[in-house]
Amino acid sequence: MKNLTQTDEVWPFPREAKCPVLPPPRIAELREKQPALVRMYDGTPAALVLDYDDVTTIMMSPDVSDDGRAAGFPYVSEAARHNRGKRPTIDRLDPPEHDIQRAMLAPFFTVKRIKQMRPFFEELVDSLLDELEEAGPTVDLVTQFARHIPAAGTAELMGLPSEDIPRFLELSETYQSFGSAEEIAAAGAEIAEYFERRLAEPADGDDFISMLIREQVRPGHLAPDQFVRTMILILTGGFDTTANTIALGVVAMMDHREAWEALANDADDELIAAAVEEIVRYTSTAHHAVFRLTTAPVQLSTAELPADHAVIASQMAANHDPKKFECPHLLDIERDARTHVGFGMGIHQCLGQHMARLALQVTFSKLTKRFPRLELAVKPEELTPRIGLVHGLMGLPVRLTP
Ligand code: HEM
Repeated sequence: MKNLTQTDEVWPFPREAKCPVLPPPRIAELREKQPALVRMYDGTPAALVLDYDDVTTIMMSPDVSDDGRAAGFPYVSEAARHNRGKRPTIDRLDPPEHDIQRAMLAPFFTVKRIKQMRPFFEELVDSLLDELEEAGPTVDLVTQFARHIPAAGTAELMGLPSEDIPRFLELSETYQSFGSAEEIAAAGAEIAEYFERRLAEPADGDDFISMLIREQVRPGHLAPDQFVRTMILILTGGFDTTANTIALGVVAMMDHREAWEALANDADDELIAAAVEEIVRYTSTAHHAVFRLTTAPVQLSTAELPADHAVIASQMAANHDPKKFECPHLLDIERDARTHVGFGMGIHQCLGQHMARLALQVTFSKLTKRFPRLELAVKPEELTPRIGLVHGLMGLPVRLTP
């Protein structure tokens, strides 16, 4: 068994400008030497795990904690520590607290329930495409299209008034950014105030928020501040991830034009489900998701991690592990990518994955068919990456009908 490879490098590693979608090149260099010991922004040493089998071992192990309150838990920035470390939500809790809270939320995210949202997403995407066509031929696919889809979808699911969506979008972007701790705390506080007001109002509707207040908060199963933080998690967790998977998926397909053309010609949508799994694998937008702390020694294929050790289980590295996915840097929409870990694995696997899948399937199906000749209006290296908890782009200028 190898020991951890000592490096003094700080996580996250920079990405390569000319490849805005792919994982940082340093990941491929370290693959043979992993787990490597890296440092978080505050100097906390963390084991960086890159191998698919080892990443899934960490995600599934009962000897690994996701409780963000523990001393030594790795955070990617001061703001992330500040926001997530105090009274954590399900994404930073262990059983039994995690399981109790997840069971309260899960009924709203089932396949059956989300399936009923298909007409909503179809209408939404059609109307956004009409607006794009009107605004074209050159448009920004991030600000004029992608970010509106998860925002409207989450608002529909939660029962939020549509006029509040633009402000939530702004706040969510700040909250998920690597901006100053004050800026991020202010955005979190404004979203919190909104949901605190909701707590004081009657809760007799059959929407997600009213039902959660009526059935969980009022009888005392969910503390009011926990409810507010959970609402912030759901609102911010789904926005950037889905929007940036759309944006980066388009960039990836511009580099693999045959995928775009195949979807554009796929009249019966026979390819779309597999294509979305491959795009989620390839783009791996939730690049700062799986941070953990060992509670007992954990045996990996390459090393044994001691107890009380911080771990970064890189789902983007696992999704690009050549031992698991042949030619991982090739976007192949016909491969079976369903074992990717883009939505995580185990008890913390993404709660919103069925909604994200539906939104992405409707979006890529309709976008490719409406604009089969769409192309980037700038070179990939001219795109500005979005630096934050979620990997993405600040903008994506495209020509719709060159
Ligand atoms: C393409 C879109 C999305 C991606 C790539 C994504 C990715 C992920 C990943 C990797 C995790 C696991 C984190 C971990 O193990 O530490 C996760 C958890 C989670 N996601 Fe998503 N997500 C997406 C969309 C959504 C949406 C639309 C929602 C809600 C509306 C959502 C809500 C959540 C929540 C609440 C958790 C925490 C679950 C738990 O800890 O039990 N996500 N997501």
